[in-house]
Amino acid sequence: MICQYEVEEVWFPLSETILEWDEDFHELMLGDKLRMAAYKKAIESVVQPEMIVLDLGTGTGILGLWALEAGAKYLYAIDVNSKILTLAIQRFNQGGFYGRYEVFNAISYEVNLPQRVDLIISEILGNLADNEDFVPILTDARQRFLKKSGRMLPSSVYTQLVPVSSVKAHQQVKSKNIKRLNTKYNLERLLQRLAVESPFNLYYDVILSQQSYLSKPQIAQEFQMDGNDQQVYNVILTFNVEVDGIFTGFKGSFVATLADSVVLDISGSDIAAHTTSDCWKHCYLPIENPVEVKPGDQIQLLYTRFYPTHRNSPFRQCYKWSGNIMRGSSIISYFEQSMESREIFQSLTTDN
Ligand SMILES: C[S@@+](CC[C@H](N)C(=O)[O-])C[C@H]1O[C@@H](n2cnc3c(N)ncnc32)[C@H](O)[C@@H]1O
Repeated sequence: MICQYEVEEVWFPLSETILEWDEDFHELMLGDKLRMAAYKKAIESVVQPEMIVLDLGTGTGILGLWALEAGAKYLYAIDVNSKILTLAIQRFNQGGFYGRYEVFNAISYEVNLPQRVDLIISEILGNLADNEDFVPILTDARQRFLKKSGRMLPSSVYTQLVPVSSVKAHQQVKSKNIKRLNTKYNLERLLQRLAVESPFNLYYDVILSQQSYLSKPQIAQEFQMDGNDQQVYNVILTFNVEVDGIFTGFKGSFVATLADSVVLDISGSDIAAHTTSDCWKHCYLPIENPVEVKPGDQIQLLYTRFYPTHRNSPFRQCYKWSGNIMRGSSIISYFEQSMESREIFQSLTTDN
């Protein structure tokens, strides 16, 4: 399957449907040169013979296979998706590693490993870094599965945000005319499941180039994988507008340190040169009412991550992006988008 995509093309936000991922999406991940090259290099540089390794969220098993090929003594591989996990088993056996691994078909919170491991490898990152809920998952895994002397791969990651001007992306969100890998990834169904009414209260997968930046990117949140990372937070950022444009939302991306000398940065936008990631693209956090801005204006952002009042899936998370656009000391406009439905929130607060 070849996935063709263009700059400013709005795609279905795959990180919101983890439990529905199929072979098409796993194929897309396996063909993603930026992702694969970085993970292969990192695993080869970190895995030492005799290591016991956990591949958390093994999917089709590629990262676990690389760990075994790099000399790992034993591999534990966990995945909640039973259909995809059979492909991992096939891969390990075809690699000649029968007897050197054990798989667990469950969510990691419910797994108990027979022993602690030297290394936890995972690729449960979303394009905002934490939009596949890695913080509680890896905090729990570190606590229960890792030896005191053990290592995490990735070892750290940060989220970057930058305000952008993309009228093209805005129009696609407004008309809900978005691209998807196959018909199983359905926007209307996703909006319904999340109880989010406006398509502007959701983020999307979109490649946004530097030409669309209105300001310099800033780090919004950092994660050290040390057991103390925050899963719920409020971050205030002020962006100085440097060019004329129509502010339509924010671009989000992550930079992950996989190993000492291996960094995976998905912010690039040269599709032909593979500086973009086929599976992550970038995150686009749209605003409903675009605002004309000019150099000297300031975009003040309150970026919030939280969990909804009613959680209907282990991966249900919410982001909220709101703020003011300032010209001198005057507020010329404001925005407020949230993945938690206001109606549900209001009805819950009135019921109580
Ligand atoms: C982004 S995919 C990566 C798959 C594979 N490691 C790779 O790199 O190609 C993440 C996988 O982790 C699984 N997953 C995510 N969180 C999990 C958890 N807490 N417990 C078990 N499986 C999980 C998903 O089902 C999915 O197959």
